[in-house]
Amino acid sequence: MNMISSLSQYQDEYKESVENPEKFWKKYSQKFLWKKNPSQILEWNFDEPKVKWFSDGKLNITENIFERNFNLKSNTAIIWEPNDINEKSISFTYNQLFKRVCSFANVLKKLGVAKGDRVIIYLPMIPEAAISMLACARIGAVHSVVFAGFSASSLSDRIDDCNAKIVITSDGNYRGDKIISVKNVVDSAVEKSDSITNVLVINRISMDVTMVEGRDVWLHEIEKSVDDVCNAEPMSSEDMLFILYTSGSTGKPKGVVHTCGGYMIFSQYTFENVFQYKDGDTYWCTADVGWITGHSYIVYGPLLRGAKTVMFEGVPTYPDPSRFWKIIDKHSVNQFYTAPTAIRALQSYGDKYLEGASLNTLKVIGSVGEPINEEAWNWYFINVGKRKCPIVDTWWQTETGGIMISPLPNIIDSKPTYATLPLPGVQPILFDNDGNEVIENNIEGNLCIKFPWPSIVRTIYGDHKRCKETYFSTFKGYYFTGDGAKRDDDGNYRILGRVDDVINVSGHRIGTAEVEDAINQDSSVIESAVVGYPHSIKGQGIFAFVIVNSNSDNVNYFDQIRKTVTHHIGPIAKPDKILVVPGLPKTRSGKIMRRILRKIASNEFQNFGDISTLLNPEIVDIIVKKVKNL
Ligand code: WTA
Repeated sequence: MNMISSLSQYQDEYKESVENPEKFWKKYSQKFLWKKNPSQILEWNFDEPKVKWFSDGKLNITENIFERNFNLKSNTAIIWEPNDINEKSISFTYNQLFKRVCSFANVLKKLGVAKGDRVIIYLPMIPEAAISMLACARIGAVHSVVFAGFSASSLSDRIDDCNAKIVITSDGNYRGDKIISVKNVVDSAVEKSDSITNVLVINRISMDVTMVEGRDVWLHEIEKSVDDVCNAEPMSSEDMLFILYTSGSTGKPKGVVHTCGGYMIFSQYTFENVFQYKDGDTYWCTADVGWITGHSYIVYGPLLRGAKTVMFEGVPTYPDPSRFWKIIDKHSVNQFYTAPTAIRALQSYGDKYLEGASLNTLKVIGSVGEPINEEAWNWYFINVGKRKCPIVDTWWQTETGGIMISPLPNIIDSKPTYATLPLPGVQPILFDNDGNEVIENNIEGNLCIKFPWPSIVRTIYGDHKRCKETYFSTFKGYYFTGDGAKRDDDGNYRILGRVDDVINVSGHRIGTAEVEDAINQDSSVIESAVVGYPHSIKGQGIFAFVIVNSNSDNVNYFDQIRKTVTHHIGPIAKPDKILVVPGLPKTRSGKIMRRILRKIASNEFQNFGDISTLLNPEIVDIIVKKVKNL
């Protein structure tokens, strides 16, 4: 099956993918190298839920990156751009990358890691982040990448939840003008772990670190004792490929599980079609491998396609806000994929940082992670895309594994603030809050998906019940995304944001319950309620209403609570606003009425709807007065 190259081809593929999904995906799956060809294409029901794609097939995803693409072996696979402009970028050909992956895989085996074992990767954006993911996949170990900005306690929760055997980390890392002690975080996280046998350490900055005898191993030392040949482990299509933790409405982050066959197929299909990648192009996604975007669109999608993918260690504003544009020119980037929060932040520094940039190699520019507002969309289109590059506003989630709704460059027209049309294989449907399908257009509904696509979440690691409750119970028989959306008369979808208690801060999903739990661990806090509010750069900011212990006067709650949250979760979850209040609006059954707080936090001080069920209606005015005085 060739890449989609016209509207009629898109329409035909879409039609076939809905009318005969098994035939459609079977045809595409024939591009891949199977150790055993699948005959069973799809078994599913959304009640248990159970979804199995190509279940009797056997494969290894890395064999589909390296052995299948053998003719590409001298082509560049990864271009790594370091944080510091004076440090040289490094390129890996497919063959060089293959050798590094195999020797890394042999290191893992030497440390006793076997098929099915869980490996935590806690690394900055260095080539070894991709190499270690692929090394796990080579031997059938399950990787779980944890964003290196998370705190020791978040890391330790994830290690415990999946009973990880080893952690892969670095001594430290460079991020903008900062030096971060990465290994120290790992040390405190694994201190109490029963499952971790080794910590494998990569020397990135030659920083002094404590190496625990018998547990900690330097990669460069152990790598000397292994060779660079490693056969690919045969995996069943439905064997786990990775776990990635993400926040939900309640409780601790959930370990979203993706499996080998379906994820492989959907990540390549969506990559090549959405970015219209052509041989020889250079593609750059600015995400971190700690998030799903990095998994699917820095590592797996591009490498499966045999593409040249750029990996950037630094931040958009270092040494100054022209860094992204300089990298695009330096490496002649053709497809550029970033997040609205980065676009808005760079826009806020003014156009002068773009003045010296040519950007004339760009063909497609993309956006992901949160709704993109019209002003940012236009700025991106005019100043970065020079009015000639289509914007692909791609909607998808950790749980979907790959892009679900997106324009196709020069095939499906972009429309500001719309993710536009579903990709082949994706069948969206909108429901109102009573569970009736929203048939009419231009009306907001809850976005669900009717039918399984190959990389749908299979389970929550260790908690299948939670998978069912979170995604398959709100609208019975459908996958519920947690997002609100509306459809225009041409069938284009506009994503309106989360309808649950998840907030999207700079494209990062943060559960309000998680932040409340962290705040409540502060000894001066009695209770808290956290909501999102519109923020000009971050999309949403975090607003915390807290009730404090009356004995603790004269405390700088703002700094103290932010420190507590940084300690328990990480700096990304720090509240932007903290307000000490004497009470929280509660129903008679003791539930906090968040919709009122959401309105107040968004500076809407009236039309609170029915507040007759409140136990303490007088508190609403008190809070409003306080917010007005902030
Ligand atoms: C939001 C990131 C609007 C949405 C790939 C979703 C978006 C959540 C878009 C998933 C978009 C992602 N337009 N909203 N183009 N892309 N979102 O799991 O609320 O980190 O549910 O996956 O981000 O975030 P996650």
